[in-house]
Amino acid sequence: MDIEQLRADTPGAAELIHFNNAGAALMPQPVLDAITGHLQREACLGGYEAAAEQAQALENVYGAIGRLINARADEIAVIENATRAWDMAFYSLPLRPGDVVLTSTTEYAGNYIPYLQLQRQRGIELRVLPNDEHGQVCLSALKTLLDDERVALVSLPVIATNGGPVQPIEQIGALTRAAGKLFLLDACQGVGQMPIDVKKIGCHMLAATSRKYLRGPRGMGFLYVEHALCQTLEPTFLDLHAASLLTPETFAIRDDARRFENWECNVAAKLGLGAAVEYALAQGIEPMWQRIQQLASHLRTQLATVPGVTVQDLGALKSGIVTFTHHQSDATQLQQWLAQQARRINVSTSRAGSTLLDMQQRGLPEVSRASVHAYNTHAEIDALVHALRRLPGR
Ligand SMILES: Cc1ncc(COP(=O)(O)O)c(C=O)c1O
Repeated sequence: MDIEQLRADTPGAAELIHFNNAGAALMPQPVLDAITGHLQREACLGGYEAAAEQAQALENVYGAIGRLINARADEIAVIENATRAWDMAFYSLPLRPGDVVLTSTTEYAGNYIPYLQLQRQRGIELRVLPNDEHGQVCLSALKTLLDDERVALVSLPVIATNGGPVQPIEQIGALTRAAGKLFLLDACQGVGQMPIDVKKIGCHMLAATSRKYLRGPRGMGFLYVEHALCQTLEPTFLDLHAASLLTPETFAIRDDARRFENWECNVAAKLGLGAAVEYALAQGIEPMWQRIQQLASHLRTQLATVPGVTVQDLGALKSGIVTFTHHQSDATQLQQWLAQQARRINVSTSRAGSTLLDMQQRGLPEVSRASVHAYNTHAEIDALVHALRRLPGR
């Protein structure tokens, strides 16, 4: 990869050291240009008129996302964030009393809460898959649990918000498909970071966001729904974009995945998402994934040499999200200290409330999270480690 070019494309990289890519990554210039350029046109031309001017570019966003995850353009819905994209799929599933949903200990609380809500409202049953010795979903346990005919859905994140293992999603998908069950994948931390191919994974639905490893703008995301499934799912919410009013008594829901969208959206951000996907594709997802893993591995090795620091990541395969604790400092204090460095260093804090099951199981109230992207460098990692060595005690 041409790292110099990657950094030259990233205005923020000259200003600070950004290790909060799992929160929101730094946008590259082409993304910024797509967004600000369109806002200018909206200001000078009018919002609807500017959108009409970009009709083809807006259409191309679906094709670009399709190329990114190996899906058809009509299997994609552009939705304001990963949570709402996931909700649109999950709440549309015809889950009935007694139906079982299988999830992982690494599940995001934003998805876990809806499971509990449907448990209360519809009487579904939630079961949490046990982990194997690496801390990832135990495949033999999944296989056994899938034998229960009441299982309707397997739903989990490929990478948790607090790092941890990269789940073996292709094996999970193969087992789930073989059992004839649905698979909803939260790829929020995976898309843009690692190759995600819905055909290879075999997931029926996938939710993702724009601002994290994809490096797009905030307030954007997307949903994939497999073509064969799409028309069988009736979205919980409909509007005049997702459906048409045919007569005063009848309406028809559109055929493609855009039935999960609604009409009004942030057009500039949608164009920004398209630019981010094109940018990621031009860099190559596989080389980016290799570099992210290499940087993360270097960071873990370096962190392990800092007195007081414990690296907390589990998994046979680990991602670019590196988590650790410091026995002399809480994560908030550590985050603030790093932000005060000469060249500001951004890390974040992941609290138990975001991934409660996993954090409780490991007895962790919080972890510091340093999430690396391909545009980060070894020198930046050394600067982080150097600053941590000088961290004042409590
Ligand atoms: C694993 C995972 N899923 C879902 C989400 C929610 O994404 P969004 O904030 O775009 O709705 C996050 C955000 O941190 C996440 O890490």
